[in-house]
Amino acid sequence: MKDISIVILAAGFGTRMRSKTPKVIHKISGFPMIYYSIKEASKISDDIKVVLYHEKEMIKKEINRYFDDVEFIIQDVENFPGTGGALRGIRYRYDNVMILNADMPLIQSSELKNFMQIQADIVMSVIELKNPSGYGRVIIQNSEVQKIVEQKDASKEELKINSVNAGVYLVKRDILESYIPKLSNKNLSKEYYLTDIIEMAKRDNKTIKPIFVKEEDFKGVNSKKDLSEAEIVMQKRIKDNLMKNGILLRLPETIYIESEVEFQGECEVENGVCIHRYSKIINSHIKAHSIIEESSIINSTIGPLAHIRPNSYIENSKIGNFTEIKKSTLKGVKAGHLSYIGDSEIDEGTNIGAGTITCNYDGKAKYKTKIGKNVFVGSDTQIVAPVVIEDDVIIAAGTTLTKDVKKGSLAIGRTPLKTKENFFYKFFKKG
Ligand code: UD1
Ligand code: CA
Repeated sequence: MKDISIVILAAGFGTRMRSKTPKVIHKISGFPMIYYSIKEASKISDDIKVVLYHEKEMIKKEINRYFDDVEFIIQDVENFPGTGGALRGIRYRYDNVMILNADMPLIQSSELKNFMQIQADIVMSVIELKNPSGYGRVIIQNSEVQKIVEQKDASKEELKINSVNAGVYLVKRDILESYIPKLSNKNLSKEYYLTDIIEMAKRDNKTIKPIFVKEEDFKGVNSKKDLSEAEIVMQKRIKDNLMKNGILLRLPETIYIESEVEFQGECEVENGVCIHRYSKIINSHIKAHSIIEESSIINSTIGPLAHIRPNSYIENSKIGNFTEIKKSTLKGVKAGHLSYIGDSEIDEGTNIGAGTITCNYDGKAKYKTKIGKNVFVGSDTQIVAPVVIEDDVIIAAGTTLTKDVKKGSLAIGRTPLKTKENFFYKFFKKG
C-alpha cells in the first residue's frame, strides 16, 4: 500500500503552547509529537513530506534523529500564511495525497487506511464533539461535505454545529494542483485556508465524503493542557498493550512507560515506576518508584527507589533502594543500598556495600572503574577512578581506594582507631 503521498503540516509555531519550543517537538511519552505522525505515515507511504517554517532547523534536526527518508518543504509564510499556503507548489509522487496536521500524535495508520476505502474526490475526517470550540465546523448535507467554516469566521448559527474538521484529508492530486493556487485570504485571519478547497470543489460538483473518526485518535494538540490529555491516552495505550502481553503492572495509572520500551518474558512493574524509551526489560521485577532510562535489565530485581541512568546493562543482579547506576555493566552483582555506580564494569558474585561511591569525575574528565568476580566492597568505600579491582578481593569498610588491587588481596585504607578511656566524663565535667 505505497501509492499515496503524505504531507504533514508543521510550519505553524503553535503560539497557544506558550513556549519557546515549537509545538510539534514537544514530547509525548518520550518522543516529539511529530515523530508519531511520521511513524504512522511511514507505514502506509514511501513519499512523506513535512512542511516547515518556524524553527525549521530545530525541527529538521529532531526529525532526522529518527527518520532519514522525509522530504522537507519550506513554506513561504511571509506571502502565503495558513494551511492552504503550506501546500503551494508541492509536487506529489502519487495521484492520492493525504494531508495531516503535525499536532495529532494519537493518529494510527489503521485509521488512515480507512480513508482509502471510500470512493470520493476528497475524504475528510470529521469528529462529533459536545464542545466543538476551537475547531473548524463542517457543514454536511445528504452525506456529503458542503463547506468548512473556521471558528473565527463562523456565524452564531454555524458555531452551534457539532461536526468538526479533525484535520486529516485524502485528496486527489489534481484537485490540489488546481485549487491551491486559487485560494484567497479574504477571512478574519488573512490566511490561506486549506479548508476552503472544499467549497471550491463542491461548486465544481466533486464528491466530498466525511469519514467519522474518534476524538481519541484524532485529537489536535494546541495547548499544554491538550498535550497532557493526549499523554494520558498514549500512556493508556502503551500500558494496556503490555498487560495484554502478560506484563504485570501494579496500579498501572501510577506507572509511566515511554514508547519504544521492550519487555520480554515474565516481568512485574510496581506502582510509581518510570521507564524511559529504548529500555529493555527481560524477566525482571521493577519495584516501586524506580526510574529506568535507556538501559537493559535482564533477570534482575531493581528498587524500590532505584535510579538506573542511560546506557546501563544489568543482568542477574539485585539493585536496592537509593542506588544510582549510570553507564555501567553489572553481571551477577548485589548493590542493595545507597550507592552511586558510574562508568563501571562489575562482574559476578560481587557485593557492593551500602554507601559505596565510584568517584568517576575529577572535575575535568570521567574515568572508569573495573571490579572483578567475588569482590566484597565494604560499606562506605570510595573508589577513585580509574581503578581496576581484580577477582577475589576484600575492600575494608570506609576505604578510599586510589590504586588498583591485585587478585586475592585485602585493601584497607583507614587511620588506626584510637580510644581514650573516660574522655566523656572529663570533657563534660561529669562524675
Ligand atoms: C485547522 C483547520 C481546522 C481544523 C483543525 C483541526 C484550517 C484553516 N483549519 O485549524 O478546520 O478543525 O486544524 O486540528 O486548516 N500550519 C502550517 N502552516 C501554516 C499554518 C499552520 O503548516 O501557515 C500547520 C501547523 O503547524 C499545524 C497544522 O498546520 O500542524 C494546523 O494548524 P493550526 O494552526 O493548529 O490549525 P487550527 O487552527 O487548529
Ligand atoms: Ca490545530
